[in-house]
Amino acid sequence: MPDGESTPVFVRTASKQDLEPVRTLLRQTFHDTYDGLFGAERVEALLAEWHSLEALTRQLSAPRSEFVVADTGSEIVGVASAIQEGRAVKLQQLYVVPQAQGAGVGLSLLQEIFFCFDDADTFWLEVHPENRKAIDFYARQGFAEKGPTSCRQHEDIPAIRMELNPQEIAG
Ligand SMILES: CC(C)(COP(=O)(O)OP(=O)(O)OC[C@H]1O[C@@H](n2cnc3c(N)ncnc32)[C@H](O)[C@@H]1OP(=O)(O)O)[C@@H](O)C(=O)NCCC(=O)NCCS
Repeated sequence: MPDGESTPVFVRTASKQDLEPVRTLLRQTFHDTYDGLFGAERVEALLAEWHSLEALTRQLSAPRSEFVVADTGSEIVGVASAIQEGRAVKLQQLYVVPQAQGAGVGLSLLQEIFFCFDDADTFWLEVHPENRKAIDFYARQGFAEKGPTSCRQHEDIPAIRMELNPQEIAG
């Protein structure tokens, strides 16, 4: 799938069979996004910690959570997961393979997450301050920057918290 070309994707709930392709997608997209910030070796360590088969299996079956993939029919090109805590929903991951970015896949995944949690009063996420592509994407979808924080498991990794109130977007 060439950069920016629009290929229809079907966004659906992930199953156990999807987890190996999802791991491949996450490996490729993590290196593309974060090698310049953390170095390839640290990225491998983060992948091993966050995206092992065991970790993803736990995420898939976590209560009050959604785990969705964007499927072209021949490959999985994007993944999103979110978990509800009270009426707030944390977007845990939103990753689109580099060759499929800029073609509406991220937006389709985000819209599916919004749809799955239609009673949420807040959606929030953490993003690296130097990940401008993602920050700009979230800002265009209505997320507002709420200030600096750091990664819960790795305090040396800085983050920006962003929040969206769906009632405000609905006007
Ligand atoms: C950030 C990221 C998830 C965004 O996903 P994406 O698929 O590249 O973004 P999209 O193509 O859906 O959206 C980008 C723009 O293209 C537009 N677009 C382009 N072609 C489109 C199409 N065919 N259909 C719909 N929208 C289209 C979208 O409307 C959107 O415009 P807007 O932002 O002005 O509303 C993705 O770039 C990514 O995975 N980045 C690397 C990983 C990362 O940083 N993840 C976030 C970690 S917190």
